[in-house]
Amino acid sequence: MQKYEKLDKIGEGTYGTVFKAKNRDTHEIVALKRVRLDDDDEGVPSSALREICLLKELKHKNIVRLHDVLHSDKKLTIVFEHCDQDLKKYFDSLNGEIDPNVVKSFMFQLLRGLAFCHSKKVLHRDLKPQNLLINKNGELKLADFGLARAFGIPVKCYSAEVVTLWYRPPDVLFGAKLYSTSIDMWSAGCIFAELANAGRPLFPGADVDDQLKRIFKLLGTPTEETWPGIGALPEYKPFPLYQPTMPLSQVVPKLNSKGRDLLQRLLVCNPSLRISADDALSHVYFSDLSPALKTT
Ligand SMILES: Nc1ncnc2c1ncn2[C@@H]1O[C@H](COP(=O)(O)OP(=O)(O)OP(=O)(O)O)[C@@H](O)[C@H]1O
Ligand SMILES: [Mg+2]
Repeated sequence: MQKYEKLDKIGEGTYGTVFKAKNRDTHEIVALKRVRLDDDDEGVPSSALREICLLKELKHKNIVRLHDVLHSDKKLTIVFEHCDQDLKKYFDSLNGEIDPNVVKSFMFQLLRGLAFCHSKKVLHRDLKPQNLLINKNGELKLADFGLARAFGIPVKCYSAEVVTLWYRPPDVLFGAKLYSTSIDMWSAGCIFAELANAGRPLFPGADVDDQLKRIFKLLGTPTEETWPGIGALPEYKPFPLYQPTMPLSQVVPKLNSKGRDLLQRLLVCNPSLRISADDALSHVYFSDLSPALKTT
């Protein structure tokens, strides 16, 4: 820890506190995440430690770099690349207006980061605007990749705030335990709609029931026909058979028809029919994305 000089506190999340800090040797600015574990006396589980150390190899321009893992005195501090702000704070600064080119660029970078991690068999499982970090030059990076697997997603944050359900897919809300990359694709869809609406969340549910009801009212209630096996999910319960409120044009009025088509392929209740990150990147919505952005 002597290596870093702690500066201001940046934020508080599910696992602990984040500080801005400076590397005393290189003067590089970093983000230090002090992880608090449920049972601090027990120290850091070795399984969690192994997982985290693997994440050091996850190097991509759209993933927040994990520089270092400091483990001493039963405490764990993770050293991350520092970014200017998160997407939630960016939304708050928008006053309800967002440039459609920014929406496209952010969405492309989000999917590119996801495609990379998924190709390495790493899931995020807790994507939300607070975990998307952006820099003044328009870069977007995914933060906290792999942490959910290492530590589990608790129901309450350290700060006693409830963990948000807004970006959780219906399969997870029904208690599915076998996670796949499709979990992140649903969250990406919710974030896409929120981007297009300049920060208005798509499904701001109050609890699991309300969350599912909001989803089904928009997309239609899934059935054994549209989603074989749904009834066998651990926490499945029947819902009224809502009809889909299509078209999506009312939901995301500022998004063009190609964008709406992509959104529709992300927001599919049956996880096995949800589009993958790779396929989403080749969607026509991105065909007119500036070539400079595609290669940077
Ligand atoms: N590398 C970073 N650079 C700049 N700011 C960061 C960085 N990492 C986190 N932050 C800021 O600190 C806040 C708290 O981070 P933290 O990851 O602990 O919580 P969270 O993202 O809100 O939720 P979760 O713990 O579920 O990821 C973030 O919302 C973000 O604003
Ligand atoms: Mg985070």
